[in-house]
Amino acid sequence: MKPKVYITRKIPIDLLVELEAVCEVDIWEHEDIPVPRHVLEEKIVNIDGLFCLLTETIDQSLLDKANTLKIISNMAVGYNNIDIEAAKKRGITVTNTPGILTETTADLTFALLMATSRRLVESADYLKKGEWKTWSPMQLTGQDVHGATLGIIGLGRIGEALVRRAKGFDMTCIYYNRSRKPEIEKELGVGYAVLDELLKRADFICILTPYTNETKNLIGTRELSLMKSTSILINTARGGIVDEIALYEALSTKKIWAAGLDVFEEEPVNSNHRLLSLPNVVAIPHIGSASVNTRRKMAKLAIENLLLGVKNQTPKSIVV
Ligand code: NAP
Ligand code: GLV
Repeated sequence: MKPKVYITRKIPIDLLVELEAVCEVDIWEHEDIPVPRHVLEEKIVNIDGLFCLLTETIDQSLLDKANTLKIISNMAVGYNNIDIEAAKKRGITVTNTPGILTETTADLTFALLMATSRRLVESADYLKKGEWKTWSPMQLTGQDVHGATLGIIGLGRIGEALVRRAKGFDMTCIYYNRSRKPEIEKELGVGYAVLDELLKRADFICILTPYTNETKNLIGTRELSLMKSTSILINTARGGIVDEIALYEALSTKKIWAAGLDVFEEEPVNSNHRLLSLPNVVAIPHIGSASVNTRRKMAKLAIENLLLGVKNQTPKSIVV
């Protein structure tokens, strides 16, 4: 009998050929609608493998129904949507897609940094609305990127890739990480700072840690109050790392200059969310890894992991 797998979203069809040769494949065939919880609860019964996205919450109550599940293959590097301990207890392997999305996500993080500092979205709207009447000395002026200090919170794969980009703009790079990285400091020319010092010194602060119990609300009112009034906060990690109420307060009262947000506490973010009403916020819909090539690579790796898992072989990128 072929092993059974469930895939929670439509993915490029050519990536399924190898899987379908070995497994009985069932797919939630929608591109833009996540699988409803009650459907997932039915589908998780009697299957060997689950391919899921960051939009699916894989918690204890769901895993209680997963009577034959061997592997959960998440098509993302972040895995905060999965209760890892619950999976481990049940002997279920969890995999993710690290590395292959690093450069693409660093590109997007730098794009947000440029867009917020030079007010690109605000300027484009200004022009389209017909508000551009003349060239004026201080019109739509922003902050310089070149020569500025970049502070990275979470110097992992994407953080390091961001430093490489920043060096091309003559930026001074500092970082805060739970573990210090002397080798990387030497190799990339990046200095360590404790969190409060980084918040005080940096002109741009980019958050690139995973979302965990330790990083939940890592940036709140106190931390924002340490930042300069000209500083810009970029979050391409996970929404819950920044307290959104405190961020709104800091941005609306100009305690900080601007924010670039790819991620939100609740996704999709409500279009009436207060943060979206602010001109100094550039908000985008969680597209950090969204290039055609990278998304294909992520889906391919997630399929490979799934296939290895159901065949009782060692997957390529194991979380637990
Ligand atoms: P990574 O290589 O694991 O890097 C994460 C870094 O954060 C590591 O250096 C880690 O330190 C550090 N860290 C962990 N907990 C910390 C804490 N409590 N305080 C300070 N530093 C801490 O991961 P990555 O591949 O760069 O990805 C980072 C995150 O970006 C992912 O978890 C995901 O949530 C997010 N992401 C978002 C998108 C998007 O589309 N917006 C795309 C890809 C990734 P250690 O070295 O000590 O472990
Ligand atoms: C995207 O957010 C990822 O974690 O891969």
